[in-house]
Amino acid sequence: MSAEQCGAILVGMMGAGKSTIGRRLAANLRLPFLDTDGEVERRAGVTIKEIFAREGESGFRGRETRVLIDCLNQARLNSAVIATGGGIVMNDANRELLKCAGIPIFYLHATPDVLYARLKNDRKRPLLQDSDPRATIDQLYTLRESLYREVASVVIDVSSRQSTAVERIQLALD
Ligand code: S3P
Repeated sequence: MSAEQCGAILVGMMGAGKSTIGRRLAANLRLPFLDTDGEVERRAGVTIKEIFAREGESGFRGRETRVLIDCLNQARLNSAVIATGGGIVMNDANRELLKCAGIPIFYLHATPDVLYARLKNDRKRPLLQDSDPRATIDQLYTLRESLYREVASVVIDVSSRQSTAVERIQLALD
């Protein structure tokens, strides 16, 4: 199946560049771009930070799963590039949904050092606000690394060569 026919799903830690890379990939493939975080915010009418403040992480995760189901259905019908939130793989049901979607999944991998350098001044990600961001990134990376690899068919390293990630994903799709 060609890339244009099936699209792609991007998973990986916050700061890996899923939205930026996904948007460029979708433009190159002339496919719609779907972003689970953006769609959660659009439906709620407030930012993710606000959702965490009002409903806690569990409220956000429920919204995220509902959006994931809709994005996967849409991509199965029309093909799309989907960028997912970094925590999407924490939920067993989400991982099963991703693995059963029949769409190639790319894990955008960056080391904790690189992620920290990109995220140390971040103000919009609630999980990094009330804690030591370096410790949180290390902890989440340790918890999630194997889960990203479990769902992904290809690992794309974006630690040093983020600029060529789109081309490398397209090569893998050909
Ligand atoms: C989260 C990552 C964020 C967003 C939310 C929770 C996480 O998405 O879904 O703040 O648990 O890692 P990005 O990976 O796009 O930053």
